[in-house]
Amino acid sequence: MTRTPVNVTVTGAAGQIGYALLFRIAAGHLLGADVPVNLRLLEITPALKAAEGTAMELDDAAFPLLRGIEISDDANVAFDGANVALLVGARPRTAGMERGDLLSANGGIFKPQGKAINDHAADDIKVLVVGNPANTNALIARAAAPDVPAERFTAMTRLDHNRAIAQLAKKTGVQVADIKRMTIWGNHSATQYPDVFHAEIAGKKAAEVVNDEAWLAETFIPTVAKRGAAIIEARGASSAASAASAALDHVHTWVNGTADGDWTSMAVVSDGSYGVPEGLISSFPVTTKDGAYEIVQGLDINDFSRARIDASVKELEEEREAVRSLDLI
Ligand code: NAD
Ligand code: LMR
Repeated sequence: MTRTPVNVTVTGAAGQIGYALLFRIAAGHLLGADVPVNLRLLEITPALKAAEGTAMELDDAAFPLLRGIEISDDANVAFDGANVALLVGARPRTAGMERGDLLSANGGIFKPQGKAINDHAADDIKVLVVGNPANTNALIARAAAPDVPAERFTAMTRLDHNRAIAQLAKKTGVQVADIKRMTIWGNHSATQYPDVFHAEIAGKKAAEVVNDEAWLAETFIPTVAKRGAAIIEARGASSAASAASAALDHVHTWVNGTADGDWTSMAVVSDGSYGVPEGLISSFPVTTKDGAYEIVQGLDINDFSRARIDASVKELEEEREAVRSLDLI
């Protein structure tokens, strides 16, 4: 059977994550090895030439699943008919910029992109925001897209989720595949809370296998939460290939489902679960099936976890207030 290609729009296509992402999308790692794709690359005008260079290389790789590439600096064109949108392009923080300046600069990007998605994307559009501050950028885009169901706007904490699994596997000497039910709560920032209290290692409770609360509080949580900064320090540039890989994981899991007995972490619009104010885009444990997700319900939250979830959610509320006062939502 010949499948209709899926239209995948990638913003910031000429950036470093874009370069790591596009080839793997074309290889079938986003949606599946039998799903053809059309790539739509959105860039700012000065970066169009670089995006064209990447498109030449994509041609040269002769990917059987890649059915077309279009490049544009117009969001209305790039999101036209999009089924999946990966919002990667964002204004990075530069010396002297305050958080408010960053939110304001990114508002200028994510508000018009949200509107273009609202007006031009396909009815089944799924949006993943990667560009930082990812949760609040997703909130801005979502607010500008009132005709798109709110649950289609998500932000990426899968990189944090994967980092947490890798750290726990190292500590306990198991394979990453042995670890299930890891959870990231809150914001994709240093306040995020990687929670092992529901995680399992080869079927046993992870917290009991670790049995070292000091390691959790003083090593595991800060290592995961500050890993982005550690990569910048080591590489001289922010994480790119691992971020691209996590973006592929996020969408692949959303579209193709979580395994029985497992879940993943996605920043999604809160329905008030676990005391997270409704409407905030916050990371939760979610299961996915048939292209839809549900927040895992009924988990016991101990005092250790509660304080950390609340702190990250408070930061998200402050970011929401900041973009509200800038008239971005
Ligand atoms: P980069 O600077 O290499 O690339 C960003 C690209 O976005 C540039 O090519 C730029 O021209 C483009 N761009 C800027 N404004 C745009 C617009 N309005 N429309 C389209 N494109 C636009 O950055 P990168 O390393 O690829 O990272 C991209 C973003 O992802 C950053 O905000 C980074 O902090 C973030 N990030 C998030 C995570 C996560 O886990 N959520 C992980 C790593 C990086
Ligand atoms: C990351 O987590 O690697 C990115 O969000 C980059 C950063 O600024 O931390």
